Order: sequence, then structure tokens, then C-alpha cells
Amino acid sequence: MQFTDLGLAEPILKALAAKKYGSPTPIQSQAIPVLLKGKDLCGIAQTGTGKTAAFALPSLDHFARNPKPTPLQGCRMLVLSPTRELAAQIAQSFRDYGRFLKFSVEVVFGGVPINKQIRALGRGADIVVATPGRLLDLIDQRAFTIKDTEIFVLDEADQMMDMGFIHPLKRIAKLLPKERQNLFFSATMPGEIEALAAQFLNDPVKVSVAPQSTTAERVRQQATFVNQMEKQALLNLTIRNEDIDRALIFTRTKHGADRVVRFLEGAGIQAVAIHGNKSQAQRTTALQAFRHGHVKLLVATDIAARGIDVSGVSHVINFELPNVPEQYVHRIGRTARAGAEGIAISFVADDERPYLKAIERTTKVKLDIVPLPENFVEAVRNLPKAAPQRKGQQREQTPEQKAKRAEGQRRYQDQQKQQRGNAERAHRPDGDAKPAKKNFRRRRGGGGVGAHKGAVQKTGGR
Ligand SMILES: Nc1ncnc2c1ncn2[C@@H]1O[C@H](COP(=O)(O)OP(=O)(O)OP(=O)(O)O)[C@@H](O)[C@H]1O
Ligand SMILES: [Mg+2]
Repeated sequence: MQFTDLGLAEPILKALAAKKYGSPTPIQSQAIPVLLKGKDLCGIAQTGTGKTAAFALPSLDHFARNPKPTPLQGCRMLVLSPTRELAAQIAQSFRDYGRFLKFSVEVVFGGVPINKQIRALGRGADIVVATPGRLLDLIDQRAFTIKDTEIFVLDEADQMMDMGFIHPLKRIAKLLPKERQNLFFSATMPGEIEALAAQFLNDPVKVSVAPQSTTAERVRQQATFVNQMEKQALLNLTIRNEDIDRALIFTRTKHGADRVVRFLEGAGIQAVAIHGNKSQAQRTTALQAFRHGHVKLLVATDIAARGIDVSGVSHVINFELPNVPEQYVHRIGRTARAGAEGIAISFVADDERPYLKAIERTTKVKLDIVPLPENFVEAVRNLPKAAPQRKGQQREQTPEQKAKRAEGQRRYQDQQKQQRGNAERAHRPDGDAKPAKKNFRRRRGGGGVGAHKGAVQKTGGR
């Protein structure tokens, strides 16, 4: 099958040719005809097989054939993503696939000032790609409405319906119009989550290219048993021994990611970290540096496990195994994308053996067990010290956090001033200290001023 057989609008075909896409991938050829008919769909296909285009192309086609003014402070299509980086990437895919069409796309996520987003959304946008938290903030501030949404997409749908997101998602679903097309996509969809999806979908067509949780083809999957304390030495050796173009190294914690970077730097190996304790600016810079090949090693928490598409990732290294098997599928799916090959190496400590078992059970793949390298003992003995923590590695405050802190300080100073004023007036014969003091007490005690009280305590304590 060719893209021309799918009946997509000419400007879309032109954009695909410009991207040098040959023919549609299986998920694209199966999902696009269903979506062009306006039906709901739950699409399951391995990582790196073009699910983004599977939902973007028919939607762009819909806008090309049904032009309408963008709803003020609203959108015609809403795409939700679990991470900011993925939201930005999806928006970029729409721009690429729709480069010969006239439409607007906005991306909204937290960690950056909200005002710019409020201004951008004032005019409305055809397509909005968002993370749920910031989307709800915008809705709560009456800066945005989703009542005109025609197409609703959940990318990484199983994660979006998992515990961390289900409450915001339910709120969002209530605010969407009843009449809409729903598109859910992921490489994994555990049974219990699929049942939950039925709440949001209307008579959906299920397209499953491979059984859910099938790992990407062409990934060589290996595991090495090693003590947790000796993993860093193994990592340094692996990086030196393997022919790495670009590698993503996953750790279980944010602190762990920073630690790995410092040990690598101590050994003279350049790496950057990306995780939730970094400011958005640091996160963006790290991913950009990795995308453009300025750094070959990106150390990440699961923040980078889903959806992120960086070409040329030759290796994924699990410094620690994820305790949820589906997450393994997504992590190793950062390599071997769009027909490429890749290697996934997992370091398995004793207490992680049950995770390995669960992964093998879920993916129905047995990992190749690779012994420790010959010079391993020596590498452990001579492990270079970690580089000292640099200022840039410490958490930078986001503009919002800075603003919040400044607001707290301002309130504290105002209160101090007010208290000083009260004290001075109390010593004056015509002092009006009493009412003011009473007023102050009442404000402190009031429920709505709880934040005020908190701010005073917090800032006062510094
Ligand atoms: N028909 C196609 N021909 C060639 N390349 C394609 C085609 N469709 C998509 N691609 C490329 O394949 C890569 C992976 O696509 P995409 O990110 O949409 O995968 P995905 O299925 O969403 O993966 P994940 O499950 O990891 O999110 C992208 O670089 C994209 O440009
Ligand atoms: Mg994807």
C-alpha cells in the first residue's frame, strides 16, 4: 500500500514525500482509513512505528477538507501527552506533516510562564497539544475552553489512564463535548486499562498491529547480573567497549540520574541528565544537545521513556530495571525506531531479578544474559571518583517558582511593615492599632488566606 492509496489530501502527500516516507507503516495503513471515516479508535503498535502520523495525518486531512474559523479561546483538536517534551515533539510533527496546509498548532505545558500561553490561546488554535495539569490550569483561569473539540487524542493512552493522570483526565473528559472523535494510541495497553478506556471511547475500532507490549523489532536485548554498588563501573566499561552513536541511560530516580552523570564526568565521559527536578530550561537544553548530537549520552528517568523520538539512538541502557514491565517496552523503544536497529542492555541487581522475570513474561522475550566483562574487577577497584556537583546541576527555579517565591516574600514584607506600623501606632496617643491588629488576626485565621499564612511561615523560616 502507498500513501496515495489512503486518499489523503494532496498537500499532506507532498509533505510526506518531503519527509521521504516511502509507504505507510502497518499502524498507519490500518488506522488512517478508519479515522478518515470519523470513527473512534484504539491503536496498538510497537514503539517507533509511526503512531504519531497515524493520528496526525487523518486529522490534518479533516481540517483541510472542513475549514472552519478557530474557536476563540478554544481548539478543534486536543492531543494530550504525559510529558512536556513529548507534547512539544507531537506539535512539531503536526507542523511537519501539515507544512503545506494552513492551520494553527499551540503547545501548552507547565514549568514555563502561563501568560504567554494565555495570550497565544486567546485567538484559539486548530490543534492544541497539552499536558493535563497546565491544560486544567488554563481552563480554571477561564483562559481556554475545550468545548468545541472535534478530535480528542490520548497519546501514550495507557499512561494517561493510569493512576497519576486518571483524575485530571476524568475532569477533562467531562469538559469535552459529547459529540467528538476519540483516538487512543500506545505500544502497551494492559487489560485492566483497556477496560477503563471503554469509558471514554464510543464504539471504537481496535487496531492492534502486534499483541500489546510487543517490543520493537530489531532490538538486541541483553542483561547482565551485577551488584547495585558495582553498576557504575560496569556502565563506564560498557560505554568504552560498545560502539555507541547515541545512548539513553535510564535510572530509577532523579538523584540517581545526577549521580550517574557525575560519575561519568569523573571518568572523563560527557553526559547530561533529564528529569523532573531540572528546570524546564535545563530539560529542553539537555534534550536538544542529545538530539543534535552535541552529547552522546543522556541519563534520564522515565520522563524520557515514552514517545521521545531521537534518530540515531544506538543503545538504551537500563542502569536500573523499571518495576513496571510496560515501562521497559517504552524505554528500549527509544532505539530501533523507523526500521533502524538497536541494542538494549539491562543491569540487573539481585533484588531486581523479579522485575526481569515480569518483563520477560510480559514481552514474551528472553533476554540474552551477558557475563561481566573480563576487566570488570579492575574497573570496580579503579573506579574514578564522581565529579563534584556543579552549580548547573542543581535545580534552577522556573520563572513560575521564582514569581511564587517573590510573591511570598512581598507578602511577608507587607506583613512585617503592617506589624511595625501597628506597633508604632500603639505607642502614639491617637494610635489606631487595635482595629488593624484585629483585622490582621482575622485575615490570618480565615480559611481562604491559608496560603497567605503558609507563605508567611515559609518565608519567615528562611
Ligand atoms: N511511513 C513512514 N515511513 C518512514 N518513516 C516513518 C513513517 N512514519 C513514521 N516515520 C518515522 O518513524 C519515527 C517514529 O515515529 P513515531 O514517533 O510516530 O513512533 P511511535 O509509534 O509513536 O513510537 P512510540 O511508541 O515510541 O511513541 C519518526 O522518526 C517518524 O518520522
Ligand atoms: Mg508515539
